[in-house]
Formats: sequence, C-alpha cells, structure tokens
Amino acid sequence: MRKLLAIGIGAGNPEHITVQAIKALNRASVIFVLDKGAEKAELQALRRELCKRYIEGGAYRIVELADAARDPTVANYETRVAEWHAQRVELFGRAVMSELDENDTGAILVWGDPSLYDSTLRIIEQLQQKGEPPLEYEVIPGISSPQALAASHKIALNRIGGAVHVTTGRRLAEGWPSDADDVIVMLDGQCAFMTIPDDDIDIYWSAYLGSESELSVSGPLSDKKHEIERLRAEARARKGWIMDTYLLRKRKPSE
Ligand SMILES: C[S@@+](CC[C@H](N)C(=O)[O-])C[C@H]1O[C@@H](n2cnc3c(N)ncnc32)[C@H](O)[C@@H]1O
Repeated sequence: MRKLLAIGIGAGNPEHITVQAIKALNRASVIFVLDKGAEKAELQALRRELCKRYIEGGAYRIVELADAARDPTVANYETRVAEWHAQRVELFGRAVMSELDENDTGAILVWGDPSLYDSTLRIIEQLQQKGEPPLEYEVIPGISSPQALAASHKIALNRIGGAVHVTTGRRLAEGWPSDADDVIVMLDGQCAFMTIPDDDIDIYWSAYLGSESELSVSGPLSDKKHEIERLRAEARARKGWIMDTYLLRKRKPSE
C-alpha cells in the first residue's frame, strides 16, 4: 500500500527539525512540496535545504505541486476554503497515484506543525476515505511558530494555571475572545492588533521566526503597535511576503 508521511519541519530554522522527522525524511522516496508562488520561494529553498542536509544518499525526488488559488468570487469564507481544500485533495490524489508506486512512501513537508492551521491532515484523511488509491499515513510533529515565538521572547505561553487562546487575525478583528487573557494570533494579514483596545495589553511579536531575517518586538501594545505596523509594512515591501505571529497578554492588576 502507498504510504504518506506528513512531516512537521519547524517554522523556519533548519535546526528545529526533530530526529523523528529526519528519520521519516530518510524513509521517503518522493518528497512532495506545495508550491505557493514566487513570493514563497525562500520557504521552498528552506525545504530543499532540509532535504539536502538531512537525507542521506540523495536517492529521493522532490515533486512540486502547484497549489490551487482560492476563488475570490466565492463570498463566504468557509465555502471558499472548502472549495480550495477540495481542489487540493484532487491535486494530491493525482500526485500520489502518478508519483508513488504501490508500496512506495512519500513525504509531505508541513511548515511548523501539522496540527496548527494547516490543511494537510484534512486532505490526507479525505484522500484515504476515497480509498483510491488505498493509502496509509503517519504524522510526525514539528516545532510550531507559537513555540518558536515563545523561545525567541524567552516566555511561557500560559501564566500559572492559565489558558491560552490561539486564533487568527481575522477572528481577532471581530473582537477580543471572551474570557481570554493570553491570545496567540496567527495568519494576520491586516494588523488586527491595531483594532483592539490597547489598555493593559502587552504584545510579543515576531516575523520570519527562526530565519536570518527574524524581527521581534515586545512591550505595551499602546507603545509598540505603530512600530510593529511600520516594521511589518517595510519588511513586506522589502521581501515581498511576511509571516508573523504574536502573543497578546492582558496585564493583571498585580503585574
Ligand atoms: C498556514 S499557518 C501554518 C502554521 C504552522 N503549521 C505552524 O505550526 O506554525 C501560517 C501562519 O503561521 C505563522 N508562522 C509560520 N511560520 C512563521 C514564522 N517563521 N514566523 C512567524 N510566524 C510564522 C504565521 O502566523 C503564518 O501566517
């Protein structure tokens, strides 16, 4: 039976890959990478670098899959994403059929960890349910961007006995999550931190975590938000793309 390995590769630092992930890379004859366009060429280069650095013997092929674009004419966000996922299932199905022989193992390199804001596991599950071709798969965890963020700022994500809320910029822009004191925000294309009341909130922000271009700023949101907005815009203009993550932490009266 064909086998797929969904391998978390960490969020940008080639040394964040685990021993389990390196062993998994070495079991695969084909490495699938989703090509997300020219602006992410740097991220593709990191994936190639990981293969070169960690796969022994060089007996592997990299197969780039041109990612489908989301259809902007579909107004509803959930429908738009569902349609996009269906296209990805088709894409992966065809690739698994044509690139892997019966009993071959392929690896899908997943940015960060596959459990967090990534559709790979949903896609593989749907492929497996289709049963054509019969497929088994394994998941190898990776270091996620919130973990890299915490290490970079030398902070724990939760406070003693506290909860951590993980969300997207899109949802934060709809309002501060009720009952939350510590909020991790990912996938924020619009600086949603500019939209919330900034009293008594600290921000721990990083872009391009783990890479040579890493940028980090922390401090009271009211003091730092304009600086972050400016840095973000400059970096995006310079590189053509940006990936950033941040923790918003409500200060408690004792702090
Ligand atoms: C599609 S999600 C994938 C998350 C990934 N699975 C993980 O475990 O981090 C992409 C988002 O992750 C965050 N992210 C990923 N890599 C990052 C990095 N190197 N620096 C800062 N944020 C990053 C950003 O919020 C970005 O918009």
